[in-house]
Amino acid sequence: MESIFPALYILAAAGFILAIKWMNSPLTARRGVFVGEIGMLLAVVGTLLRHEVVNYEWILIAFFIGTAIGVPIAYLMPMTAVPQRTAFSHACGALAAALIGTAEYFRHTPHGFAMGALVVETLLGFLTFTASLMACGKLQEILPTRPITYKGQNFVNLGIFGLAAVIGAALVASPESTWLFPIFAILSLVFGVLLIVPIGGADMPTVIALLNSYAGLSASAMGFVLDNKLLIVAGALDGSSGFILAVIMCRAMNRSFSNVLFGAFGTIQTSTKKTVERPVRSASPEEAAEILDAARTVLVIPGYGMAVAQAQHKLREMFDVLSRRGVDVRFAIHPVAGRMPGHMNVLLAEADVPYDKLFEMDEINSEFPRADVALVIGANDVVNPAAKTDKNSPIAGMPILNAHEARTVMVIKRSMNPGFAGIDNDLYYMEKTLMLFGDAKSFVSNIVKELNTALAPAR
Ligand code: TAP
Repeated sequence: MESIFPALYILAAAGFILAIKWMNSPLTARRGVFVGEIGMLLAVVGTLLRHEVVNYEWILIAFFIGTAIGVPIAYLMPMTAVPQRTAFSHACGALAAALIGTAEYFRHTPHGFAMGALVVETLLGFLTFTASLMACGKLQEILPTRPITYKGQNFVNLGIFGLAAVIGAALVASPESTWLFPIFAILSLVFGVLLIVPIGGADMPTVIALLNSYAGLSASAMGFVLDNKLLIVAGALDGSSGFILAVIMCRAMNRSFSNVLFGAFGTIQTSTKKTVERPVRSASPEEAAEILDAARTVLVIPGYGMAVAQAQHKLREMFDVLSRRGVDVRFAIHPVAGRMPGHMNVLLAEADVPYDKLFEMDEINSEFPRADVALVIGANDVVNPAAKTDKNSPIAGMPILNAHEARTVMVIKRSMNPGFAGIDNDLYYMEKTLMLFGDAKSFVSNIVKELNTALAPAR
């Protein structure tokens, strides 16, 4: 029986690696998810068969409780809430790693390298637990999304982290000093909270990728503590892929890591612009349909509002009818549009928008000056020129889609309310911009109706 474990674990690890590889492209992503699930099943079965498992009753109880919570979450949670759900999952995974580390410490009190790994596991586990809960709260807007800063914040944070690290080192040197462990755990938990407080909502996607990485590293350290090779491999994969995703996202937002993690330290990030009532031009679905029909090139910029309204299917209909009428319609996708990496790609793929009509920011930005219309659908921050012009803006430095360079800009949204970063958008007040006020799905639906009925037969 023992000889079957390495085989199961190798197959599981192969499944995880293939999953990451295949999830790279929308064409193979489903296969990637499937093979990842098979890998996880093999890993769970392989672990349950080990003779170290002493109590199946408790495992069964945990299994039923986990299933009772996990299945409804998977079915009921809207797509728009996936980032906070992901943050919540990281919190649960990290807490599990931290609690296992704590249990191992009090049961066996390891020494030497194993104690070092246990300290890393519990430090990362506890801090990722509270940091992920904070990130979840910020994304769900239960907590303020703006960065909260105060004087001397970096000293306080570094001081607490330094103290936790020193106590961790003392525990490695003298594992029997059990009284130190609760202090170490509390400092790690507190540091997790303080780590997220100064980070603004707009940086949350990167922070979540980074927390993913921490949870993975904690699991990997747990693998050393428990002498479980699959945990070491899976944790390392999780840790490195989360880190690489965070790097990619930082590049997409033109931010450095230290900028994301420490950017708000010591300075309160508020835009210098005051919100003043300024006039905007608005238009009806009929007028919008006429402008779109007369255009040669239309670049569509979807954002979070398209996801909220679930407007992707109507958008596909608009794409079809405009394409039939000879208009070149393409989709410009910002890497952090929506609320999770790939959010727009997933929704547009669900509506069967052809992949070759989707363009990433770097590919499409030079096309805007030649476009007749930039049609912004429920996007706001990702087309906000303040990212380029206002260095005090919370989104300063983030590359944007250059919608403002198109000949005409049309923006579908329900009001003049700001987007995720909570700031006004100069694009809306430009001479060439028409605001199309309404819910994205019903507005696009009205445009399609107009194109199908009222306007002249196809060109
Ligand atoms: P946002 O800046 O959040 O703007 C979305 C806009 O959609 C809002 O201004 C809102 O205006 C409009 N809207 C909401 N519901 C709508 C509906 N039913 N119909 C029409 N419009 C609707 O979105 P974005 O431009 O996609 O930018 C994404 C932001 O989220 C960035 O700041 C990014 O950093 C952040 N973020 C991204 C991620 C990832 S990984 N993508 C994760 C977390 C945070 P009204 O209320 O006036 O309708």
